[in-house]
Amino acid sequence: MEEIQALNLPIDIIATSHGCIWRDNPLQIVEKYYEWSQNYQEDQITIVYDTMWEGTKQLAHKISSEIAELSPQTRVKIYNISKADKNDIMTEVFKSKAIALGSPTVGGSILSSVGGWLDFLKELRFKEEKKAAVFGCYGWSGEGTKVLREKLTDAGFSVVEDEAKCLWNPREEDFERAAGIAKALCE
Ligand SMILES: Cc1cc2nc3c(=O)[nH]c(=O)nc-3n(C[C@H](O)[C@H](O)[C@H](O)COP(=O)(O)O)c2cc1C
Repeated sequence: MEEIQALNLPIDIIATSHGCIWRDNPLQIVEKYYEWSQNYQEDQITIVYDTMWEGTKQLAHKISSEIAELSPQTRVKIYNISKADKNDIMTEVFKSKAIALGSPTVGGSILSSVGGWLDFLKELRFKEEKKAAVFGCYGWSGEGTKVLREKLTDAGFSVVEDEAKCLWNPREEDFERAAGIAKALCE
């Protein structure tokens, strides 16, 4: 980008092989890409989860309300992977300084919706390391949070130690762990 700008060429149009064609002030998108490629980060934390019986959803909402209390200036966004557009969630994750990711344990692993989204996350290879935390409910073996932790680490995230691993539906001590996640992400 720097090399092209240094050439000072009169650029009328940018037409990539996929995506939009920029005709009106085409350099505006070059400037935006430049900004996004330079340690771009907003004061935002995004919480992403899926659930079957809403236990993991309750943990997600506790993390959200706790962040709002601890750090009122931080924008908090919360998404159910099965209900929101995956690209929209990814845009919000890109803008965020930290994320929390939740899935119940299913079949000794995580929900396929969350697994598929994690593959997408890894493909994007975000340049800057972001903080992440994991949470989720389980019934007996409880591999979910471990799988989330491994996959997030593999995708380049720095996963904090605090996690909320909750047997069946969340109780008081599980909500306290969710609050611990919020604190670790705000630090
Ligand atoms: C199809 C299915 C498979 C499951 N597999 C596991 C498992 O392998 N290990 C485990 O600990 N719990 C397993 N569970 C239990 C769920 O993790 C548990 O019900 C959890 O509380 C669901 O969380 P949620 O309320 O967020 O959906 C399974 C549940 C279902 C419905």
